[in-house]
Amino acid sequence: MSTTSIDRDRFRERFDEFNQIGATDAGGVNRPALSNANKAARDKLVEWFRTVGLDVRIDEIGNIFGRREGSNPDAEPVMFGSHVDSQYNGGRYDGVVGVLGALEVIETFDDADIETDRPLEIVAWSNEEGVRFQPDMLGSGVYAGVFDLEYAYGRTDDNGNTFREELERIGYRGETPCEADDVHCYLELHVEQGPYLEEAGVSVGVVEDVFGFSWLNVTFEGQANHAGPTPMHMRRDAFAATTDVAAAVREVTATEGADLVGTIGSVEVHPNAINVIPERVEFTVDLRSSDNAVVDTAVDRVREEIEWAADREGLECDCEEIMRVDADQFDEGCRDTIAEAAVDAGYEYTRLSSGAGHDANYLNEIAPTGMIFVPSVDGISHRESEYTEWDDIVAGTEVLFRAVEKRASR
Ligand code: GLV
Ligand code: MN
Ligand code: MN
Repeated sequence: MSTTSIDRDRFRERFDEFNQIGATDAGGVNRPALSNANKAARDKLVEWFRTVGLDVRIDEIGNIFGRREGSNPDAEPVMFGSHVDSQYNGGRYDGVVGVLGALEVIETFDDADIETDRPLEIVAWSNEEGVRFQPDMLGSGVYAGVFDLEYAYGRTDDNGNTFREELERIGYRGETPCEADDVHCYLELHVEQGPYLEEAGVSVGVVEDVFGFSWLNVTFEGQANHAGPTPMHMRRDAFAATTDVAAAVREVTATEGADLVGTIGSVEVHPNAINVIPERVEFTVDLRSSDNAVVDTAVDRVREEIEWAADREGLECDCEEIMRVDADQFDEGCRDTIAEAAVDAGYEYTRLSSGAGHDANYLNEIAPTGMIFVPSVDGISHRESEYTEWDDIVAGTEVLFRAVEKRASR
């Protein structure tokens, strides 16, 4: 059992300095994938990776890796990390805790002069959030072979910029082929983004499984007309149909399974004027559950409701599923390693599910994978007010350090 500890003050200083990049007035960060602020964050990370002596490589999709050799250069590495892109006006913790926590773990090994048997690889995945370029978890998805590189390059943002153009513009289309390496295991430290750890009153969560989810892009096309003279029976109102679907999503989540959640998070109404009947609405649906069959049924039911709503209102309708990730259990061995690491570090832990998607979803397909959660105050995330107590971040990072040590030692 290791008696070594991380340096909480050094970590805190680095965390605060990093989060000045793209900082918002309300205490969050605005660093969406491949933005200028995301570039600045990447630059800072690469600088710090090099400063601590890591061998840095950047792959074709912009994933950033830093490697510390072990005594056995032929051994498969222990990989750990997360992401540094953010939501638009998102929080300071989502992803950053896992990447800077990984860097702190490397420094802890260095300070204590610990040579591991296996190489250690820390990683910042490209475009985890999927908010500017959909789908999310794009960098880890290409790495794990879920998406083609060319498909990823062709994704566009709202202004028609492609992923490839923007990756090149910020100088992060690297040379390393983006393909899965042989990895001994992948570990990810992340904030919970939900209420359960706080409710349980513990600092550490061993993540058992992760929800499956589906993202739908829907367009309703009706007819714009004057809001005054047009009688109700002569309208083809794209927004009226959208509100029917919103009600149906609530109905489906209430009836199809206890942990099913559904969200219409983005709605664009055209022409968006007070006295014009909405001609076109583009909106998204996000459906998630720990049970793949529940996600399947929910998607079928919501698709049906979309068609019925379009029929009732006389609309053209297009509904595309742009993302489907299966619910999955994390590796039992990794879960046990994390639980043992929590005990070694002297922290109480509980086991829980992840409702959020993570790069670990895709890594789980190519290597034994596990996740460590730390509490989110009030369960808030994807908002500037996202907050986690520093003591809890320290706890999670101590657990990550010990889990990596266990996995990377002979
Ligand atoms: C990723 O942030 C997700 O949507 O779960
Ligand atoms: Mn995240
Ligand atoms: Mn997120």
